Amino acid sequence: MSDVKQRIEELRSALNTHNHNYYVLNSPTISDRQFDDMMKELETLEINHPQYDDPLSPTHRVGSDLTKGFEQTGHIYRMLSLANTYSVEEVDQWVERVQTSLEGERPVIVGEMKFDGTSISLIYEHGRLIRAVTRGDGEKGDVVTDNVKTIKSIPLVLHGTGWPDFFEIRGEIVLPWKEFDRLNAEREFNEEPIFANPRNAASGTLKLLNPAEVARRGLDAYFYYLLGDNLPADNHYDNMMEARRWGFKVSDAMTKLYDITKVDKYINHWDTARKELPVATDGLVFKVNSLRQQLNLGFTAKSPRWAIAYKFKAERAETRLRFVSFDVGRMGYVTPVANLEPVLLSGTVVKRASLHNEDIMRTFDIHEGDMLYVEKGGEIIPKIVGVNTAERLPDAKTVRFVSHCPECGAPLVRQEGEAAWFCPNKWGCPPQITGRVEHFVGRRMMNIDGIGEETSKILYSTGLVTNIGDIYDLTIDKLKDLERFGEKSAERIMQGIEDSRHVPFDRVVYALSIPGVGETTAKKIATTAGSMDRLMNMSQTELESIEDVGPHIAESIIEYFNVPINRQNIERLRAAGLQFEAEKAQVLSDRLNGKSIIISGVFSHHSRDEYKKMIEAHGGKNVGSISKKTDYVLAGDNMGPAKLEKAQKLGIPIIDEDTFLKMIADE
Ligand code: IVH
Repeated sequence: MSDVKQRIEELRSALNTHNHNYYVLNSPTISDRQFDDMMKELETLEINHPQYDDPLSPTHRVGSDLTKGFEQTGHIYRMLSLANTYSVEEVDQWVERVQTSLEGERPVIVGEMKFDGTSISLIYEHGRLIRAVTRGDGEKGDVVTDNVKTIKSIPLVLHGTGWPDFFEIRGEIVLPWKEFDRLNAEREFNEEPIFANPRNAASGTLKLLNPAEVARRGLDAYFYYLLGDNLPADNHYDNMMEARRWGFKVSDAMTKLYDITKVDKYINHWDTARKELPVATDGLVFKVNSLRQQLNLGFTAKSPRWAIAYKFKAERAETRLRFVSFDVGRMGYVTPVANLEPVLLSGTVVKRASLHNEDIMRTFDIHEGDMLYVEKGGEIIPKIVGVNTAERLPDAKTVRFVSHCPECGAPLVRQEGEAAWFCPNKWGCPPQITGRVEHFVGRRMMNIDGIGEETSKILYSTGLVTNIGDIYDLTIDKLKDLERFGEKSAERIMQGIEDSRHVPFDRVVYALSIPGVGETTAKKIATTAGSMDRLMNMSQTELESIEDVGPHIAESIIEYFNVPINRQNIERLRAAGLQFEAEKAQVLSDRLNGKSIIISGVFSHHSRDEYKKMIEAHGGKNVGSISKKTDYVLAGDNMGPAKLEKAQKLGIPIIDEDTFLKMIADE
């Protein structure tokens, strides 16, 4: 073996060990600096000697920037769920049922954490990770191998010995609390919607199309189920301990419990101890240890009889209502909010909780000074779940919904069929005006840096910006003398305003705050209409023919463009040079001559979206499903078996990406 190859292998093996020490065992034996130096040396060697490259080298964990769609694949063993229980008694009854089914044989029970993330199935062949698949519908799931490869605690190449040549291991992908808090803080800063809980954040992250972004988010994974033909042991616990030796993260909480009293103790212990864990858990799982007994017990249609979940109770606190306030949002909707005596709940102090709308307030029949129950389940947003009426103060009055806007005094209106009251004073109600400006300048809209909640209030109170059209009349001189403003911040805003002239048309549509038109709808409307002028003149029927636009949204769009102030603003935005036309699809050639092409699988040179654009730019049609009329299948790796079979049956030529790129290339 050449010296280079030998060094590469040494480095890979050492880095794999150090990764395992760091991410699985939590006990690194070298400094971060030493680790980075080794990684750099390996990267350099691999770049200079591409013949020794290996897709599973530790250097490839960072993820590439290629955008790829997901292919689906069938599970080898169906991915079932677990039956739930909510009390120690129910768990005890399950143990008894198991024992009866085993004709009196006493089962050893394994207790483990129920991790609150998203389940994953990994397939290993000859000790190497070959595929990672989500649960999907239980029968088939999305192939997310590239994203899973970025999770540093997952071994790409197994450690130790004794693993079957082919096996599956299942576990839960989680986003640790620390990473979850960091991600949400970042999203809040960027004005992106925050994740309600680590479970949503983990599954959302796993489905991102950009593995580099997945790598940045800090996912982790715990494993709890080994499947295959030649497993090392005849029981679940020993198999998991073996898996731990191969490099998988298996929770230290996994324990063998020899009788019911031990099961009860385990529940009592983890009911509180789980709060110290670095990841979210929503319960415990109990499993029959012996694989022979598991086989005997079998499955129901939905879940194994040899396992059961025990769900933790949501944390609940009781606290006194100080007063109910009423928030007015940018669209004018009024939300009642319970302001509470501060109370500690799952590690955070809760002072406010939404009461959502008048109907919900009435259901609880909230009285002044009531003792309220507040809960935080898997959610980070606290909920009012009830009133302790026994503690109601004598003579306490019912809290009523306001009849007038708390911000501008206008009488509130409630439209038929709607739960919310709203303030119709669109052009005179301060939080609505500043809210629309804040939305307009937001990251995902016009992205004008430097105008946040505070600035938009100052701009409003000084009369500089009372609607979105005013933004483009701002100058450095007007800004720099404002309170708490300097030349620097004024320049930053002016630069943001300048850059916003290039923001694409669909984001301009989203920025307008048309009721009912969110980001996705704005994109569809912008693409179909093609220009602002066309959009302003579309009829109800034309609007309704756009995907996602129903009669309600169509009416709202028409109404928006009928309001004189909106029309004036639009003209001012046009004069300011904003993008009022959708980008035209590029036309490069007619080499594909109207041919229908379906895209399937995962590609390495370009993303699926790029191939779609190329097909259209060269005069072809990108179609969604295979039929007799399809001319070609442009196939990447892992094309779905059903599609492949159908294409072969219909005799449709299957071409790979190199062939396609040749077809559209200049002669
Ligand atoms: S065993 C056939 N063990 O809970 C049984 N599942 O409600 C396979 N989960 O889909 C599941 N921690 O995503 C098992 N220690 C654990 C678990 C666990 C979390 C999840 C898993 C499963 C869901 C069932």
